[in-house]
Amino acid sequence: MAYRYRLMAIPAAAALLCASLLPGPAAADAAPGDAARGARLAYTCFGCHGIPDYRNAYPNYRVPRLGGQHAPYVAAALAEYRAGTRQHPTMKGQASSLSEVDANDVAAYFATAQPVTAAGTTVGTAPASAQVCVACHGKEGVGLTPEYPTLAGQYPDYLAQALKAYRKGTRQNMIMGSFVQKLSDADIDAIAHYFAAQQPALWVPRAPRAP
Ligand code: HEC
Ligand code: HEC
Repeated sequence: MAYRYRLMAIPAAAALLCASLLPGPAAADAAPGDAARGARLAYTCFGCHGIPDYRNAYPNYRVPRLGGQHAPYVAAALAEYRAGTRQHPTMKGQASSLSEVDANDVAAYFATAQPVTAAGTTVGTAPASAQVCVACHGKEGVGLTPEYPTLAGQYPDYLAQALKAYRKGTRQNMIMGSFVQKLSDADIDAIAHYFAAQQPALWVPRAPRAP
């Protein structure tokens, strides 16, 4: 698949991390989830993820867009909420109501209708502090492997919140934790706005009509 070849562009340090910390090809090639079944299970998610600009209250930031996000990343995020390496009480509750198979199916559902693929052009110029990031998240904000989340068109306040959570350690991830330590609030702001502006963009899924 194309993304495998594009990995060669990754600088040595990042490549090392990828090789040592990420699931190997076997996990990446795991059977895709059942999107039709996922659509039924995702019913409760739309109360927040199906409403454009819907906000988390404390702290105040927008609920992330899931439409077109890489399925393996979404499944991994749900597992992290369940495990507590990623802290958010509501999402822990939501994720805990799903089995691993359920989570894969829901992830497949959000990913499939209109996957986000790299356009080959960027909107504006990546800030200098984002040079290392594009090795995995792509200049256009589309994750170069299914495990790397797509950032293109994500809400900038959500992206900033995520980066600050890694910096603070309330969201634990060995890869990301190592890349955010040196970022200032101004860097985070510039990076968040750059990736949020990229096209094509993640989108807000619409609730399917009740059966
Ligand atoms: C009450 C509102 C609410 C509901 C209902 C809800 N979510 Fe969330 N979800 C959130 C918020 C807020 C966040 C961001 C939390 C954070 O900062 O980590 C989030 C984050 C996520 C993420 C991480 C996205 C990313 O880019 O990392 C995934 C995946 C997710 N939710 C899936 C689901 C699924 C699947 C359901 C239904 C089973 C669901 N959510 C139901 C509010 C909600
Ligand atoms: C070696 C590959 C790699 C590099 C380099 C990298 N990331 Fe990441 N990034 C990841 C992975 C893997 C995740 C998912 C981690 C998790 O599950 O929490 C992630 C998650 C994120 C998220 C959370 C997305 C969401 O939807 O919640 C943001 C934002 C992010 N990265 C931004 C950056 C920025 C900014 C940089 C540069 C300073 C960077 N990344 C460098 C691999 C990378």
